[in-house]
Amino acid sequence: MSKATTEPVIDVRGLTRTYGTTTALQDVDLTIGRGEIVVVLGLSGSGKSTLLRHLNGLETPTSGSVRVLGEDVARLRGAPLRALRSRIGFIFQQFELVPSLSVLENVLTGSLASVRGPRLGLFSYRRPAKLRALCHLDRVGLLDRAYQRADTLSGGQQQRVAIARALMQNPEVLLADEPVASLDPESSAQVMALVREIAADEGLTVLCSLHQVDLAISWADRIVGLRHGEVVLDLPTDGLTKEQVMEIYGRVATSTGELTAVANELLEPVR
Ligand SMILES: Nc1ncnc2c1ncn2[C@@H]1O[C@H](COP(=O)(O)OP(=O)(O)O)[C@@H](O)[C@H]1O
Ligand SMILES: [Mg+2]
Repeated sequence: MSKATTEPVIDVRGLTRTYGTTTALQDVDLTIGRGEIVVVLGLSGSGKSTLLRHLNGLETPTSGSVRVLGEDVARLRGAPLRALRSRIGFIFQQFELVPSLSVLENVLTGSLASVRGPRLGLFSYRRPAKLRALCHLDRVGLLDRAYQRADTLSGGQQQRVAIARALMQNPEVLLADEPVASLDPESSAQVMALVREIAADEGLTVLCSLHQVDLAISWADRIVGLRHGEVVLDLPTDGLTKEQVMEIYGRVATSTGELTAVANELLEPVR
């Protein structure tokens, strides 16, 4: 096999990131192979977003290395960084759509990395891009909403638009930062199921942050637990129980009297 197919898609070594006196990530090692579906689980403030942001070069390490798709992310600038980012889809807790634009235009902005010049409305996109955008909207079940303003959709629908937008890049990696944290249980379940389905169809490698143990176990192939910026567990979900996960968090948290916070947050039912 060639190097490209054997090399991990995500390879983080000894990643430390500090902000002033705050250590957001501490000596994180993480290797993820092609097609793996991994959850990074942790309380708020444990470093999940910071970790994800290093993977597409939105943050630079204080020390350690971050390789994604064979590229040393922190060393890339300009066009090579944009090229790498175009291979990495990103979805956010707050969807980050342009509220006043149509659903279709929002999806089309996902192709911006690969087109030049400013975009001034639908007419400025080429027909093949529009057709692809409509296909992706169909895929996420929102074809009939294409010409509606984005802000007229529910939260769950907006997140599905954001997924369609990410698909415009034909990404190889999908990073999702608490994608269902602001959704109700039914929409959460729909969005998570959709991400898995698409990931399987497209052979995507997925790293998704969550703070609910139950959802993480039922959804991911593997869970990486962060606490105060350190990896405290890295286990396949197969056969893994909530009790085992909590036991590990409990062991590290009791010493600091943090256990109640851990239980409250990680065992929170999916809203
Ligand atoms: N840009 C920043 N400036 C200062 N502190 C930050 C910054 N980004 C994150 N942090 C701190 O790093 C820690 C981890 O934050 P974050 O990665 O957002 O955690 P999570 O996503 O798990 O809630 C927190 O203590 C947070 O306050
Ligand atoms: Mg976060």
